[in-house]
Amino acid sequence: MEQTLVILKPNAVQRELIGDLISRFERRGLKITAMKLCSISTETAAHHYREHLEEPFYEDLISFITSGPSVIIVLESLAAVTIVRSMVGTTNPADAAPGTIRGDFATSPGHNMIHASDSIESAKKEIELFFSSDEMMNYKLSVRPWL
Ligand code: RTP
Ligand code: MG
Repeated sequence: MEQTLVILKPNAVQRELIGDLISRFERRGLKITAMKLCSISTETAAHHYREHLEEPFYEDLISFITSGPSVIIVLESLAAVTIVRSMVGTTNPADAAPGTIRGDFATSPGHNMIHASDSIESAKKEIELFFSSDEMMNYKLSVRPWL
């Protein structure tokens, strides 16, 4: 099974949308393998967003993602990376289709509610950055054979 990393960003927590967002993933059939509420440190944020270091929005990005608690989740399913990215929608919520998370809950690229890994390789690196192996839960959902 494929795994992907999702971050419900600080504005999702402040807007009390944690339950709504997790519920979408559960209903789609994604299994929660790991999950925590935590404030992302500046060091971890800088590593996570290192590819954007030269972007004009970099300082705002780091300051926003470290501004309060986020919910960090590992989700698992067949094609988890592709499925979750399609549920999240485009980076700029103005272009995001209704029915996607950004298309339903966000208006600005800087406050687009949620992060999702963009490839299997990124997912592996991001999961290692945010979770230790003993935080990853190995269990079966009995509904799995029905998906
Ligand atoms: P994410 O990594 O958060 O899942 O988002 P993404 O793949 O859709 O977009 P990415 O290009 O990786 O950008 C990372 C985050 O940077 C912020 N951003 N702001 N102001 C802007 O024009 C702008 N462009 C990107 C967004 O918060 C985006 O999620
Ligand atoms: Mg990205």
